[in-house]
Amino acid sequence: MKRTHNNGQLRINNVGEEVTLIGWVAKKRNFGSLVFIDLRDRYGITQIVADEKFDSITSQIHNEYVLQVSGKVVERQSKNPDLPTGDIEISATNIVIVNVANTTPMIIADKTDALEETRLKYRYLDLRRPCMQAKLIKRHRIVQSFRKYLDNLDFIEVETPVLTSTTPEGARDYLVPSRVQPGKFYALPQSPQLFKQLLMIAGMERYYQVARCFRDEDLRADRQPDFTQLDIEMSFLDEEEVMNVIEDMFVTMFKEVENYEIKSPIRRFGYKEVMETFGSDKPDTRFGFNLKDITKVFENTEIELLKGKIIKAVVGKNVCDQISRKDIDELTMTAKKNGAKQLFVFKNSTEGFNGSLVKNMSEKEISDFKQSLNVENNDIVFVVAGEFLEQACNPLGQVRIYLGHRFESDKLVGYDMLWVKDFPLLERNEETGGLDAVHHPFTRPYDEDLPLLDTDPLKVRSHHYDLVLNGYELGSGSLRVYNHDVQQKIFELIGLTDDDINRKFGYFINAFQYGTPPHAGIGLGLDRIAMILTGSSSIRDVIAFPKNASASCPLTEAPTVPSDKQLEELHIIIKKDE
Ligand code: AMO
Repeated sequence: MKRTHNNGQLRINNVGEEVTLIGWVAKKRNFGSLVFIDLRDRYGITQIVADEKFDSITSQIHNEYVLQVSGKVVERQSKNPDLPTGDIEISATNIVIVNVANTTPMIIADKTDALEETRLKYRYLDLRRPCMQAKLIKRHRIVQSFRKYLDNLDFIEVETPVLTSTTPEGARDYLVPSRVQPGKFYALPQSPQLFKQLLMIAGMERYYQVARCFRDEDLRADRQPDFTQLDIEMSFLDEEEVMNVIEDMFVTMFKEVENYEIKSPIRRFGYKEVMETFGSDKPDTRFGFNLKDITKVFENTEIELLKGKIIKAVVGKNVCDQISRKDIDELTMTAKKNGAKQLFVFKNSTEGFNGSLVKNMSEKEISDFKQSLNVENNDIVFVVAGEFLEQACNPLGQVRIYLGHRFESDKLVGYDMLWVKDFPLLERNEETGGLDAVHHPFTRPYDEDLPLLDTDPLKVRSHHYDLVLNGYELGSGSLRVYNHDVQQKIFELIGLTDDDINRKFGYFINAFQYGTPPHAGIGLGLDRIAMILTGSSSIRDVIAFPKNASASCPLTEAPTVPSDKQLEELHIIIKKDE
């Protein structure tokens, strides 16, 4: 099958040429003696016009048939300014039906009303839609730009195993049973973290990988069970140098792929600062409704619920009359889901200043409250009191996002990129009461905070940095611990026994004894980057064959029930009706 041009190529200056095109029938229209066919391929659409001598063929043709058409390029009488090829059409001299197609279960066009489940089941048809092809092509461009940039800086791409042992990113592992070693399982990597650190110990110095990662966790619009990271690790650089390499890589990519100038240097915020100002460790700073601290207003309060608490507020300026009871109920639920005991709401309307707490507040508290927040007519104020910073700020961060998206949506344009750094090393696990690593246990604490590991571990800051774009965490990285004793201490603090450490990471700790270089790195979520740059609302749109919300693939129907023979070979018995 030969073609002379693709379907996005021909222009007015090709008029008069004899050409051959191949493609799918996007649309067929009969106009009396003439039949018009839109022929589509990855590059675009070209209009074919066939006269009555093709009647016996054109009458057989339906949407999504594959055709080879030869003919002459002619200038169109009524031009289509919406199509790059819209000035011309092909006057057919030969039409071959290369293949036929059943009626498709969805319309193959950018605008479709197909349900996502149908789109995923017939993904190969969904991906025929030009808008979906454009997304995959842009994703490819992003990856190519990153690869080129890293290659220029001497990074080498190394592949690491997919069948491996457990990784410490904090999600559940996907396990794969071993046939030859009954009762044993491989774990799929949650990231190549341990291998990339071993590659630094191996002296590779600069590594990257477009790496498939697997995490069994609750799915959201920006999460998939298998997803892709641009995973990077390098030796002998300090924190600023590492961040500079990464941000220059993004500045270059944005220029190449989007022709967009990211303002460099990218702003750096401290963790505490973003929590206090935006109520989030991945803030979108394009809109306002920032958090205010009003702890002082209530420092001598008689209100039990507020005594000794950190108290934060978000003011909805001049929007009180637009927020309904239902909105407040929804916001209260969201705040509670994000750790608030209660969301206090104050309204300053024509009916005066009121809210559930007002009757218990002293005159001075009311006036200090109004003054410190500059409360004016038609303002609504949301307040959360917390035992600790995150408990007060996280819920209000969600209120801020709600207000920003509803009342300042005009500001949600362009790209807002920033770094968040100086995260705490450890956090309290509310369920177990123990300590967890905020990033992962290989993150290096600040040298000057090392003594606090023994006395006040929650105060220890770490060299952990996150890259944030438009309110999404794009990537997380850190300087790594390279001292055996510090590593051991951190494992102990997060409650790993010697036995746990040996069983899970014995090989890794061993490696540390053979001259570990200072090293650092980052894992960047490629799917999230592609999602934002293609303006998609879910990462499923930039993954060729994604899973749905219940982690199933509607196309292949994975996960499936294995045969009895497979289970027997794997020495597995499925417990029924638990
Ligand atoms: P972390 O666990 O923060 O760090 O992951 C890094 C980035 O990977 C992306 N990501 C996801 N994308 C889609 N679906 C998911 N389920 C998912 N989980 C994570 C996010 C996130 O910022 N090994 C460390 C990195 C390092 O220290 O070098 C790590 O994996 O964009």
